[in-house]
Order: sequence, then structure tokens, then C-alpha cells
Amino acid sequence: MQTTSIHGMWSSRLAFILAATGSAVGLGNIWRFPYVTSDNGGGAFVLIYLGCILLVGLPIMWTEIVIGRRGRMSPINSLRELSDDAGASRKWMGIGFLGVIAGFLILSFYSVVAGWTLHYGFLYLKDLFGGATITDPDATFGSLLAQPGELAFWHGLFMVMTVSVVAFGVEKGLERAVSILMPLLFVLLLVLLGYGMNTGYFLEAAGFLFKPDWSQVSGAMIVTAMGQAFFTLSLGMCAIMTYGAYLPSGVNIPRVGVTVAATDTVVALVAGLAIFPIVISFGLDPAGGGPGLIFTSLPLAFAEMPFGILYGFLFFTLLSVAAWTSGISLMEPATAYIVEATNLSRKAAAICVAAVAWMMGLASVFSFNVWSEVRIGGLEVMDAIVYVANDVMLPVGGLLTAVFGGWVLSSRITHEELDKKMPDWAYNAWLWVTRIVTPALILVVLAGLFGII
Ligand code: PFF
Repeated sequence: MQTTSIHGMWSSRLAFILAATGSAVGLGNIWRFPYVTSDNGGGAFVLIYLGCILLVGLPIMWTEIVIGRRGRMSPINSLRELSDDAGASRKWMGIGFLGVIAGFLILSFYSVVAGWTLHYGFLYLKDLFGGATITDPDATFGSLLAQPGELAFWHGLFMVMTVSVVAFGVEKGLERAVSILMPLLFVLLLVLLGYGMNTGYFLEAAGFLFKPDWSQVSGAMIVTAMGQAFFTLSLGMCAIMTYGAYLPSGVNIPRVGVTVAATDTVVALVAGLAIFPIVISFGLDPAGGGPGLIFTSLPLAFAEMPFGILYGFLFFTLLSVAAWTSGISLMEPATAYIVEATNLSRKAAAICVAAVAWMMGLASVFSFNVWSEVRIGGLEVMDAIVYVANDVMLPVGGLLTAVFGGWVLSSRITHEELDKKMPDWAYNAWLWVTRIVTPALILVVLAGLFGII
């Protein structure tokens, strides 16, 4: 059994928690969660999403960390090792390959959206110095999307920021970045929540988020809730598995898993509680906001409210920081694999991954302008990529991960890794949820997705 990884190790339990939380907390929480909640009518969606986190997300999070820590390599090679050990087929490495492909797809569009947030942060910074750049938010957002060169530039800048962390490795790159950025993120989030609570519309917003209207429930909504649960916890594409490979041996996996999942969930809800009061207080409809919610509705409010420009700057800085620590985790699995499989240095490997992902991202860039008429299966290009990666590949990856952890790995290994001192009942609860409940729920959702039920 390996106790260290060739890529480096987190120096402490806290370093892992910050890195994994940094991966989980991102655009998914602050950009996507509010608008998918808004598009799906609020409370009922939130409750179904929370159910998915508990019954699907958490067991898979534990399983990914177990596989990563036991294998101590990039997901593809960890899965090869563990399959060999278990006498199982090497086809299980496919989970790792699927993860790397999903990682490229997600990083490609993620970086484009992260580029929007960098651009907005920059606009508000200019405003702070008397620029008044966002006078008509719809026009500002529209004109950004209409310019492929501008989009490609900000998308490129985000990629450069990300690669410049990943290139320096686990300790000097990833750990150092998250130890600075995550505290900054939490402070910014609290400032914004404080403002939301002061608008006088906090209770209305809480009602929208938590009061279920069950008439809104549909198959499509459940698919979105499950996809969002995977996306927000960074599961199903081996990112958390990769971080698990760098986790010191004595750390209690169930405990860190709960900490990461709970923090991510709280941040999504806090983001909702910070954003919806502002939307409501300016007479805007919280429902049906779409992906532009924070780029069009919020700037309308920022233009009117006291210290709105400063608030806007802080908000988009927060979002950029959150996206950055997630982008790092999207780049790490493929980078670690290239380092293992070739004789490229980490720097060279990371630059290759960034270059390929940047080029793939051009598809998302063009989907708003040059290719705006193109439809793939009825969806715009970027939406199609998001759909395939988030709603199909992540749940499929998660399903296979759960089956591998529950049925292929020996229970001696999983018990040892989760926690040797764990009482049998707790271990058995994990085992049977991972073997039966989680895969069954994912299968039902996938069946719904493909119209089988
Ligand atoms: N969890 C990130 C977010 O919520 O923004 C997105 C993400 C990061 C998804 C890493 C998947 C991943 F592997």
C-alpha cells in the first residue's frame, strides 16, 4: 500500500479540505445554482437537489476519496492498480478516461463563463475609478457575447491563471493558492450575505428558496437536480479522486467528505440568500432568470443601490476566485495522468492541457455569435456541451465509481480506507447505499433522461 504520491501530498487535513472545497465551490454554486433554481421554480427543486447531495453525492464523494487514496496516482492509473489487485478487468480504467474527457469538456465551457466574471470584475473596477461602464446591463452582456475575440481573450486569461497554479504542483501550486484564496472567498461571501440580509427582502428570498411548490416537479427537473448535485460537488469525473490521491493516510475520510459536501451546500444556499433578496428588492422576478441572471439582473440592482459599484466589484471578484480554485481541480487529473504516462514535466503537461481546453472552449465562445444559429439536438452549442458533460457523463461516471467502490474493491480495503475504527453498522450502511441505493437512483434518472421511463 502506497503512503505517498509521486505528485506530492497535502500537508494537512485542512489543506485537503480547502482544496476539495475550493474545487466544489465555484460557478456551480454562485452562478448556476441560483439560476437553475430560478428556472425550476424554487423550493421543490432545492429539496430534491439536497436529497441528491445526501443519497448520491456524499456516498460517491467518500468512494472517490477512497479510490484515490488507495491508488495514489492519477485516476486512470489508480483504477488500473486497484482493478489488478482485485483481479478485475482493466476496463475499469474507463472511468478514469471518461473522467478526463468530461474534465476537458467542463473546463472548456467553465473557463469561458469564468472569463465573463473576470471581464465584469474588470468593468466594475473601472467603474470604481469613475468609468460608469455598465449603464445598460442587457446591452453590456449582449455586446460581450457578440464579440468572439473579447470572449476568447478573457477565457484565455482564466486559462493562464489556472495553468500558472497547476504547473507548480500540489504543494507549491495548488495548496498555496487555496490557502490564500479560500479564506478570501469566505470573507467576501459573508460581506455579500450581510448586504442581502439588510435589503429587507431576505424572508421573501428564503421563501422562494425553501417553500416547495410540488406542482413544479417534473422528470426534467429531477435530471437537472441530479446533474447539479454532481457538478457542484465536482463528482463523477475523478477530480475529487485525484485530490484523494494526495491525502495523508491517517485522515478520516467520512469526516472530511461531510465537511466538503456540507460547506459546498451551505455556500450554494448562502449565495441564493445573498442574490435573490437583491433581485426581489429591485422588483425583478426571481423565477426564470436563465444563465444571464447574475450578469443582467444583478447589475441592474448594483447600478441603483448604495455602494453598488463596490458591491459589484466584490461580487465578481468572489465569483472569479471561486471559479479559479475549481478550474485548478478540472486541470489536475489530466495533468497528473500526462506526467505519469509520458516523460513531460508537470509544467509542460499542464500547458498542453490548458492549450487543448482553450481550443475546445472556442466552441462555447462561438456558440454566442458565429455559431449562434447552430443547434445540436435542439440545443445551442455550449448548452449541448454542458448537457453532455454535466447531465450525462457525470452521472454515468458516478454510477460506475459507486459500482467499482461497492462491488469490485474488497470490503477489507474500503473499510480500512474509510476508517478502521468505524463501527460495522456504519460501514455496512455506506456499503449498501453505495452498492444499491446510489446506483439505483442514478439509473432511474438516466432512464428518465433517455426517455426509457
Ligand atoms: N464544482 C464546481 C462548481 O460548482 O463550480 C465545478 C466543477 C469543478 C465540476 C471540478 C467538476 C469538477 F471536477
